Amino acid sequence: MDILSLENVSQEFFLPRKLGDIVTRKPARSIRAVQAMNLAIHENEILGIAGESGCGKSTTCLIAAGLLSPTDGVVVHRGQSLAAMDDVAKKIFRRSVQIIFQDPYESLNPRFQIGDAVAEGPRALQLWPEDVIQDKVRSILHSVGLDPDRFMKRFPHELSGGERQRVGIAAALVMEPDIVFADEPLSMLDVSIRADILALIKTLAAERKFSCVYVSHDLSILGNVADRIMIMYLGQAVEIGSAKDVLTNPKHPYTKALISAVPIPDPTIERGIPKIIGDLSMPVNTHQGCQFAPRCPYAKDACWQSFKPLSEAQALHQSSCLRETDADVLNEVVDADRG
Ligand SMILES: Nc1ncnc2c1ncn2[C@@H]1O[C@H](COP(=O)(O)OP(=O)(O)O)[C@@H](O)[C@H]1O
Ligand SMILES: [Mg+2]
Repeated sequence: MDILSLENVSQEFFLPRKLGDIVTRKPARSIRAVQAMNLAIHENEILGIAGESGCGKSTTCLIAAGLLSPTDGVVVHRGQSLAAMDDVAKKIFRRSVQIIFQDPYESLNPRFQIGDAVAEGPRALQLWPEDVIQDKVRSILHSVGLDPDRFMKRFPHELSGGERQRVGIAAALVMEPDIVFADEPLSMLDVSIRADILALIKTLAAERKFSCVYVSHDLSILGNVADRIMIMYLGQAVEIGSAKDVLTNPKHPYTKALISAVPIPDPTIERGIPKIIGDLSMPVNTHQGCQFAPRCPYAKDACWQSFKPLSEAQALHQSSCLRETDADVLNEVVDADRG
C-alpha cells in the first residue's frame, strides 16, 4: 500500500494587491506554487524531488506533511484523507509524517537544550511516559552520531551546522515515523560534511524502515540516494520514474536539459544539449499549459493550452510532455548537434 499520496493537489498564493490595482479594480495576482500534483509515496522507498529553486518543492513537502492545507486536492495517509481525519487519526498522522528542514539554524529553538529539543515532539503528543522518552532521546542521539552524554545538555549555539542538522534528524526520527520529508537537508552545510549526513539519512531509512522524500536541486545527489525521482518545473511535476530511467532515459525536454547540465566525468562521452531559451520566470498568473513551454525548443500551440498531469495510479516512468513521443523531442540529441 502507498503510505502517502497527493491527489490533484494545487496551491495558489495570492500576492498583496498594490494600491493602484485596487483603484483600477485589477484582480489579485497569484502564484501557482503547485499545480495538479499527483504523487504516491511507496513503502520503504526514497523518492527524490528535483527542480530549480522556486519550483514548488518545499510547498509540496509542507502540504504532504500536513503543515499547509492545499488550495485544491487531497492528501491521503494510509487510505485516510487528511481533511477528514478525527483527532485520533490526526495524532497518528502528526507522529507518522515528519519533516527535516533545510535550515538547521532556524529550525531549532535557541532556548532549548538538545535533549529537550528532541523530546519536544513525543512530549507534545504524549507518546510515552517521560522515562521512556528520555531513553528514546538518548538512543536516537546515539544513532545520529551524537554522544548523548555530551550533547543532551548543550544549546544549539554550541553546535556546528552538521551537528545541528543531526539534531534535526533525531527530532524527526524519535517520533518513529513511517515517512520523512528531507527538504534540502544539506544545502546550508559545508561541502565537506554533506556526504556524511547524506549517508546517515540513507542508512537510517534502511534500518528504521521509513520512506523518505528527499528534496534537492542537485540531481547528482539524488542519483546517489533515490530509488525514484520526480522532476518539477514551476509548480508542475514534469517527470517521474525509477532513478535509472529518469537519469539515463529522460522523456521531458526540461529533464533532458537538467541532466545535460550535470557534469559527467568521462570526457569521451558527448551529450546533445537541448537549447533552453529565456530565464526561469515567476509562475504569476501564467497560461494554462506546460510551464516550460516559453523556454522549450519543441513547444507547439497545444503546449500553451494544456499539459499532461502525471498520474499517481501509474507506477511507470512518465512525463507531462504532450510531445514526448514526437520525433523531434525523441531525437533531441540530433537536433542539438545540428544547432
Ligand atoms: N507563503 C508564501 N506566500 C507567497 N508565495 C509563496 C509562499 N511560499 C512559497 N511561495 C512561492 O511559491 C513558489 C514555490 O516556492 P517553494 O515551494 O519554496 O519552491 P522551492 O522549494 O522549489 O524553492 C515560489 O515562487 C515562492 O516564491
Ligand atoms: Mg525549498
